[in-house]
Amino acid sequence: MGLLIKNGKIVNADMSFHGDIYCEGEKIVAIADQISAKENDDVIDAEGCLIMPGGIDPHTHMELPFMGTVASDDFYSGTRAALAGGTTTIIDFVIPNPQQDLMEAFQQWQEKAEKAATDFSFHVAVTWWDDSVSEAMGILAKEHGVNSFKHFMAYKNAIMADDEVLVNSFKRARDLGAIATVHAENGELVFRLQQEMLEQGITGPEGHPLSRPPEVEGEAANRAIEIANLMNVPIYLVHTSCQQAVDAIARARANGQRVYGEVLPGHLLLDDSVYRDPDWSFAAAHVMSPPFRPKGHQQHLWKALQAGTLQTTATDHCCFCDPQKRNGEDDFTQIPNGTAGVEDRMHVMWHHGVNTGRLTENEFVAVTSANTAKIFNVYPRKGVIRVGSDADLVIWDSEKTRTISKQTHHQNVDFNIFEGMEVKGVNTHTISRGDLVYKEGNITAERGRGKYIKRPLYSADSKALQLNSAQRKASPVIRNT
Ligand code: URP
Ligand code: ZN
Ligand code: ZN
Repeated sequence: MGLLIKNGKIVNADMSFHGDIYCEGEKIVAIADQISAKENDDVIDAEGCLIMPGGIDPHTHMELPFMGTVASDDFYSGTRAALAGGTTTIIDFVIPNPQQDLMEAFQQWQEKAEKAATDFSFHVAVTWWDDSVSEAMGILAKEHGVNSFKHFMAYKNAIMADDEVLVNSFKRARDLGAIATVHAENGELVFRLQQEMLEQGITGPEGHPLSRPPEVEGEAANRAIEIANLMNVPIYLVHTSCQQAVDAIARARANGQRVYGEVLPGHLLLDDSVYRDPDWSFAAAHVMSPPFRPKGHQQHLWKALQAGTLQTTATDHCCFCDPQKRNGEDDFTQIPNGTAGVEDRMHVMWHHGVNTGRLTENEFVAVTSANTAKIFNVYPRKGVIRVGSDADLVIWDSEKTRTISKQTHHQNVDFNIFEGMEVKGVNTHTISRGDLVYKEGNITAERGRGKYIKRPLYSADSKALQLNSAQRKASPVIRNT
């Protein structure tokens, strides 16, 4: 018994065309102008709709233990919500405590994720350094399909990676054929500015953006990119939020360096006025890092996404309910950092990207799935509608509307940063590895149906990776101009 989707317009990152799609088991097995149903096939008529690859969210934190509490969406509730919003794969983060064995942390996250309803993969954070960390990176990369290692340049006295960790880990990632990823904020500066705010009596959420200005992100972005250049490893900057970081990425890319950037819908659409709202709960609900920026940064982020300087969209989905945010009632530095969005990313990006003319439908696919699949090396298994690919699909009605609200969303959190936003263009059906898991408001995905997705290493021997070091040896002065 197969699943046949008829009469839709198939939209990939490279082209759109009309055709039928036949799925058998977990895969797409045929695409043609007309495919006839066999006995017992399930048939969906997608007349008037688009069919696109299921979304891939490369940045989520389900049930993350963080800042004295645990993120409120777990791997089941969060991935159910993802499916409702058309996202069929997430890449979450294993974040070992400093001194914790990376393999032990990886095992803990695998156990937590057993209940996932979407497919999932893991970046692994490097939060400290010694030979055992280097060895574990090798095991994770070679045996467990981890091809990306994350570095938090912020969160001093917790999970922050200092320059020694960055240099060692970037070098190791390069030798393995993995990619380095960073949360780019200078944690030392954040710490200093937080103390200054508190000394001045600024204890509310308005202190959050004041202690994390764009310069803090710009400095870290430039530093991480330059370390990656010298260590000759590709680098990916998560949640790029400001012009300073975009400029750092653009400069490096123009210089031939392999640098990638991610942006969140929140940073594209919200600004820092939310932190000055007199309602403490409202302001605290927006506390995430990097913070939402003064409005002017938004146009730089949109243009960078349009220009390809930034390639992916993510959510950094990390939910905390009001009672959890209240841990920082008297001190903004203790408000758990994080906001939700895994259910809303596709809708918000379509509405504000495609409906405004900023993105074509094909570019929408590029920035919501295909580019992520390519950068993190799961393409063409994911991120494209092609024979042989996983049958991860959304059927999209570009005329249908949804009003985003905490009253109706499936995310396990009591707030939505896009509350009241009416979006036009939503998925009517979500199909994950051949299973119809969401249909017009009903989520039927079973707990635990999600699969762990291994991501192969990039070739550590490739000429592309060697190019920078060869150039450096030949002409160090040119590299520095
Ligand atoms: O505020 C955020 N972004 N919380 C989650 C952890 C991180 O920095 O990505
Ligand atoms: Zn981060
Ligand atoms: Zn994050």
